[in-house]
Amino acid sequence: MELKQLIDEFTSIFGGSKDDIRVFASPGRVNLIGEHTDYNGGCVFPAALDLKTTIVMRKRDDGVLRLKATDLDGIVEADITMLDSYKGIGWGEYQLGVAYMLSRFGYDICGADMLYDDTVPHGGGLSSSAAIEVSTALCFATLSNEKNGITKSVDMIQMAKISQLAEHEYAGVNCGIMDQFASAMGKRGHAIFLNCKNLDYKLVPLELGECKIIISNTCKKHALGASKYNERRNECERGLELLQAAMPQKTCLCDITEAEYKAHAHLIDDETTAKRVRHVIGENARVRSAVEALSIGDIEAFGALMNASHDSLCHDYEVTGFELDTMVDEARKIDGVLGTRMTGAGFGGCTVSIVKNDAVRTFIAEVGKNYEAATGIKPSFYVTETGDGGKEIKL
Ligand code: GLA
Repeated sequence: MELKQLIDEFTSIFGGSKDDIRVFASPGRVNLIGEHTDYNGGCVFPAALDLKTTIVMRKRDDGVLRLKATDLDGIVEADITMLDSYKGIGWGEYQLGVAYMLSRFGYDICGADMLYDDTVPHGGGLSSSAAIEVSTALCFATLSNEKNGITKSVDMIQMAKISQLAEHEYAGVNCGIMDQFASAMGKRGHAIFLNCKNLDYKLVPLELGECKIIISNTCKKHALGASKYNERRNECERGLELLQAAMPQKTCLCDITEAEYKAHAHLIDDETTAKRVRHVIGENARVRSAVEALSIGDIEAFGALMNASHDSLCHDYEVTGFELDTMVDEARKIDGVLGTRMTGAGFGGCTVSIVKNDAVRTFIAEVGKNYEAATGIKPSFYVTETGDGGKEIKL
């Protein structure tokens, strides 16, 4: 929805004038490469999108929060003195979880009327939840700082960390930091080369020459909480423990190089754990190679690494599934596709492909037709524009 229209909708729902309205926004992300490495202390390479959550809001003085989404009926009401009691309420849980976490970190949460508008598709693996969390965190932290006379701007890395904690405690998903970090820190025209162990990062210009990034939505919703995400995390922890018998100084799987892993692979006594570990260590190496390839303009090499990433996520990490694999298989049949892979947690959601400009139309037509014929689901496509991380939109 256009901003002007959103503001009109806000006043028609909540009344009042337009003078004291504030607007905050934070984007979803596409991860170009580096999947399931973040919670293993590894590297990732996401880019913030121009798909985002926008919050139109106004403060209230009575300690009441009223939350509304543009695409849902009903208003969720909450009391700011009882923020620890809204777990499991359904829509509104991310917002109230973030508000609660912020209060634990010393921020003052005020009452407010808030209208949420999402352009990130829900359940599509493009971090719609991180977009809601980070925009909410930014909004409340900005207001709290103002109230307390703190003039420095909001610490966006802290917002990412607080949002991640809210996801752990409120949504029960033991996610890594990638999504919230990308939503908080992204920059238009760039991807973020992030080391998730120490949060060192570099913004890398996303110069793809004669190519575009296409996101293909399988339209099979992934249910992150219900999926095998936490199970994979546990499998990785088991793999690390076994390898620590020979390498006690390694504190996460991504501390281990491919050569070190090869030398000690025999310590892992079951095939499933071995496959998970092989993916994580190989994927971490692929991220570094991919960023290097991009820096010298070798988009073909970048694409080949994306292909290898998908194959590893399919065979070793086993988080793809029929829809994602079909989308990737169909994309690989098109001339001018340099690389294609699932993006995000997996088990449904989206793929990301690097496609030559002159193949974009054929890609959308052919992959769309063939994917639908194979799965019975109509997919959707976005020729991706990158966007900025969380910020207040000044009216
Ligand atoms: C989800 C999580 C991230 C990351 C990816 C997989 O998006 O929120 O932290 O683990 O899955 O790379």
